[in-house]
Amino acid sequence: MKKMLELLTEEVTRAFAECGYDEKYGKVTLSNRPDLCEYQCNGAMAAAKEYKTAPIQIADAVAKKLAGSPVFSMAESVKPGFLNMKVDEAYLAAYVAGMQADEGRFGCEKTKHPKTVLIDYGGPNVAKPLHVGHLRSAIIGESVKRIGRFVGHTMIGDVHLGDWGLQMGLIITELAARKPELVYFDENYEGEYPAEAPFTISELEEIYPTASGKSKEDAAYREAAMQATYELQHGRRGYQALLSHILHVSVTDLKRNYENLNVSFELWKGESDAQPYIPDMVQKMKEDGFAYVSEGALVVDVKEETDTKEIPPCMILKSDGASLYNTTDLATIVWRMKDYRPDEIIYVVDKRQELYFTQVFRCARKTGLVGADTKLQFLGFGTMNGKDGKPFKTREGGVMRLEYLVESVNAEMLKKITENQKSKENLAIGEEEANQTARMIALAAIKYGDLSNQASKDYIFDVDRFTSFEGNTGPYILYTIVRIKSILNKYRGLGKDASGAVIAGVHSASEKNLMLALSKFNAVMENAYEETAPHKVCAYIYDLADAFNSFYHDTKIMTEEDETVQKSYIRVLELTKSVLETCIDVLGFAAPERM
Ligand code: ARG
Repeated sequence: MKKMLELLTEEVTRAFAECGYDEKYGKVTLSNRPDLCEYQCNGAMAAAKEYKTAPIQIADAVAKKLAGSPVFSMAESVKPGFLNMKVDEAYLAAYVAGMQADEGRFGCEKTKHPKTVLIDYGGPNVAKPLHVGHLRSAIIGESVKRIGRFVGHTMIGDVHLGDWGLQMGLIITELAARKPELVYFDENYEGEYPAEAPFTISELEEIYPTASGKSKEDAAYREAAMQATYELQHGRRGYQALLSHILHVSVTDLKRNYENLNVSFELWKGESDAQPYIPDMVQKMKEDGFAYVSEGALVVDVKEETDTKEIPPCMILKSDGASLYNTTDLATIVWRMKDYRPDEIIYVVDKRQELYFTQVFRCARKTGLVGADTKLQFLGFGTMNGKDGKPFKTREGGVMRLEYLVESVNAEMLKKITENQKSKENLAIGEEEANQTARMIALAAIKYGDLSNQASKDYIFDVDRFTSFEGNTGPYILYTIVRIKSILNKYRGLGKDASGAVIAGVHSASEKNLMLALSKFNAVMENAYEETAPHKVCAYIYDLADAFNSFYHDTKIMTEEDETVQKSYIRVLELTKSVLETCIDVLGFAAPERM
């Protein structure tokens, strides 16, 4: 379906042309004076210059042409030359009915130019628990992926595990100190290694920080860890077997954590998967004359003439020949291009890494790892702060584990639900349903609290505000959906059925307002994808939920005596529910049956 603004623009464009003015002046936008009109066109002001006519004269003429239009119920010219318009009720109702007939898409056509987009998000590090710093990448990345998919692109999510480097050597070293008898440390061992890991996830999570702490104090320990890392990376069998265990135990735990967040990845690749591509890549960069040695290190210049600030060279190899975070990201681009030929790669990473990604992207482009037709996009997100405005911490001041954060919001939600239940005895839900519902609402609270902010901005994680059933929150949106579900159940409970009925016109100002909100759906989805901006979907459903709730307060739905009108209301409710559900699905959460 065409977007409402396109349809209105076509109509106004025609009126301009019929009055002898260029079509380009007929662009219609949403009104910035909703008290006066729903839509506006400012074209007469610009046309006035070209035609050397007073703008109001042009606006008057166009308004007159629009007078009999079936599209507008009002089109008036106002000084100095604006066109203020209201859409015709029957026209709007027909549009909304068209959305309903377009099941699952609600008027949002799939893109005619589907792209393959690889999206790098999550970025957890093996053997370290997920902490709040990983939350935003997971939430935003998942939503961008789902929005892209809805719009019709092929979206491939890659978790890009941090599974390479010193942390592995540290774990191996600590393990060797604790259990030297393990077969992994016997260099003469040639048999198969045990299938079972010699540690659990909780042990692993304790081993790593212990080792990391020791290495900071003990130079010999650190040396040993570096040596172990080196041997691991150069193929020592026992260490590689340990690496597989570390990966397996860690990834199993990560998957469980991401599942709880309703986040999933198509690819579970890691930094280690890029290593085989490094030697050839580096060789080629040297041969092509891009990489040169500077102060011992191998670098590629990436500064550009138009730079307003200094962009240092991209370092490819350290002076000791070791690869870096950069090297891995560049080599990752190599396999991504080889295996998936993406039209675009989006990186959902903390915005403090922006300069780093500028270097990596420029280097990739300059050295030909990606062609001009592949877009590299950095979607940098801001920091999640505590109520004190500082990065979110535990009460003791440590880094907050993601799991604990989620659990605390779950608990808060459960408390609220239980209190709610007490006030409506006959609706009492069982303990299991209460737990499950609490988790669903908590997830909505967390995700909406995050996604409703523009990604690049810092925001304050405020549990009290996020879990509130009122205001611009996830629970408010869910509450609205549940309210609609309950009305529909009541209606059906009376043995009534509105299926097949059509949305028959507009019956009140608040219903019109709801339909106006509904009609924006396709434009919002497209725009949210174009601008990689899930917050636009949030803003949309907040407006939609508000419009619905006003309609609900104004309208006696269940007691409506005119059957056609009642059915029409029910159909509007069904559409509102479907659109809201589709939107929260792309945001990565869902609504319970009741709450
Ligand atoms: N593992 C990294 C971290 O915890 C994030 C990885 C981001 N993605 C990337 N392609 N570099 O900071």
